[in-house]
Amino acid sequence: MTDKLIIFDTTLRDGEQSPGASMTLDEKVRIAKALEKLRVDVIEAGFPIASPGDFEAVKAVADAIQDSTVCGLARALDKDIERAGEALAGANAGRIHTFIATSPIHMKMKLRMEPDQVVEQAVRAVKKARQYTADVEFSPEDAGRSEIDFLCRVLEAVIDAGARTVNIPDTVGYNVPDQFGTLIRTLREKVPNSDQAVFSVHCHNDLGLATANSLSAVLNGARQVECTINGLGERAGNAALEEVVMAVRTRCDIFPCTVDHIDTTQIMNCSRLVSSITGFPVQPNKAIVGANAFAHESGIHQDGVLKSRETYEIMRAEDIGLTTNKMVLGKHSGRNAFRTRLKELGIEFRSEAELNEAFARFKELADKKHEIYDEDLQALVTETNLELENERVKLVSLHVCSETGETPEARVTLEFDGREQESTATGGGPVDAAFKAIDRVVQSGTELLLYSVNNITTGTDSQGEVTVRLEKGGRIVNGQGADTDIVIASAKAYVNALNKILAPEERAHPQTGDV
Ligand code: KIV
Ligand code: ZN
Repeated sequence: MTDKLIIFDTTLRDGEQSPGASMTLDEKVRIAKALEKLRVDVIEAGFPIASPGDFEAVKAVADAIQDSTVCGLARALDKDIERAGEALAGANAGRIHTFIATSPIHMKMKLRMEPDQVVEQAVRAVKKARQYTADVEFSPEDAGRSEIDFLCRVLEAVIDAGARTVNIPDTVGYNVPDQFGTLIRTLREKVPNSDQAVFSVHCHNDLGLATANSLSAVLNGARQVECTINGLGERAGNAALEEVVMAVRTRCDIFPCTVDHIDTTQIMNCSRLVSSITGFPVQPNKAIVGANAFAHESGIHQDGVLKSRETYEIMRAEDIGLTTNKMVLGKHSGRNAFRTRLKELGIEFRSEAELNEAFARFKELADKKHEIYDEDLQALVTETNLELENERVKLVSLHVCSETGETPEARVTLEFDGREQESTATGGGPVDAAFKAIDRVVQSGTELLLYSVNNITTGTDSQGEVTVRLEKGGRIVNGQGADTDIVIASAKAYVNALNKILAPEERAHPQTGDV
C-alpha cells in the first residue's frame, strides 16, 4: 500500500508571520474552515502564548474544526506548552508543536545555551506536551544549519520522550534539494528509533527552493510537509501547499506516497480567500493559482490545446477548482440565494445581523455592478469583516476632483476618535490627494510602503481591490478596501491600515524571544 503524505498547513501561524499579514479571529476561523474543506490533515492555528488574541484565535479554530487536527505552536517552555494545551482543550484532535533551536549559531547567539541544555529542554518540553495530548510534534529549529550528529542525538531523545512527529525545518531557506533530501535520508537511517515517528519538513523560500526541497525530502522518506496557501510565510514564505499537493498528484509515477485525500478542487477557493484576507495578491505567473497558470497566450499553444488539451496542459483547471468566471448572483437575487452561495464558498454567518449587513452591502454592489462573481462575494465578506473593533478612524465621505490639465483635489470627511472632521488636499493624482487629506486629520506619522490595485474580476465595472502597506516604528500593517470606484477603494484601504496601526499590539514573535 502506498503511504499517505500528511499535509500540515501553517498559513495561520507561519503565514501570519509575514509582515502585515495579520488576521482577525473571524478571518482565521474562515480560513480554517476552508482548509478543512480542502481536507488538510493538520491546521497549525497559531502561537497561543504570543498574545491573548492569538490564544483566543487558536481556541476558536480548535472549537470550530471537526475533521482536521488543530495544532498550536509552543517554544520548549512550560508556560508556552500550558497555554497551547489550554487553547486546544476543545479540539476534536489537538496537536502541540514544540521547538527549540539546534544550530550552533542559534544556540550560541540567540539562546546562549550549551548543546546539553538544549537536549534536556527539548526532552522536558515533549514530556510536558504529552501531558496534554498524545499527538506531539517536535522541531529542531534551524535544522538545515545544524550539525548532523547533534541533530541525531536530539531527535532520538525527543522520540524516546514521546514525540510522534519530528519536523526538520530549513528555517532560513539555506538548503538545496539534493543536500536536503540526503539530510532527511541520513537522519532516518542514523536515528535508531526513527521508525517510531513521522518525519516532516518545513522549508522556507529564501532561495526560491522551498517546494523543491520539500519534494526532495518526500522522495527521501519525509511523510509530512508543512506548507502554506500561496506560499505565504516569514520573509520569502514557506513551501506553497498548492505546489506540493499538485506536484505529488501530477507526478504520482515518481512519488512513493499519495495526496488523494486532499480535495484539490478547493485550492482556488483557499488561494483567493487567503489573498483577499491578507491583502497579499497572487502574482499572475504563480504556479497553480496564478491568473496565467492555465492561460495560453501563444497561437501555437492555443491551437495545440484546442486539438488535444494534453499537448500543453499537465493538469486540468477544474482539478484545482478553477471555473471560468460564471455569474453567480445579480441584483434580483434574494437573501437565501446569497446565503447559499456563500455557504458553498465556505462562508457562514454567526448571526442574522451579520448576514443582514453583508446582504445590504451585496445589494449596494449589485446596483453598481450587474454581475456578481464568487470573487466579488469573497471581497464583500472580507470587507464586512475588515471593520475592526474600536476603530478610531471612519470614512464618512470623499469627494475628488480630477480634470485634464488641473491639479487633482480631494475633500474628505472622517470621524476620528468620535469627532467628525473635514479636510482638503491636492496631490499628484486623486488617490494621492485623498491620502493627503486623510492624513491631515489623522497625522499618523506612517510611511507608505506599498500601494497596489487589482481588479477582482474583469470588465470596467469590476471592483478594484486595493492594498496599502504602512510602516511606523518598525511595525508593518496591510490595509484593504474594495469598491467599484478605485479612489474610494483606496481611501477605504488607507483608513483600514491606519486603524490597524493605531491599535495597540503586544505580541511575541515565536522565533525571536529568549528561552
Ligand atoms: O521556520 C521554522 O523553523 C519554524 C519553526 C517554528 C518550525 O517556523
Ligand atoms: Zn517557519
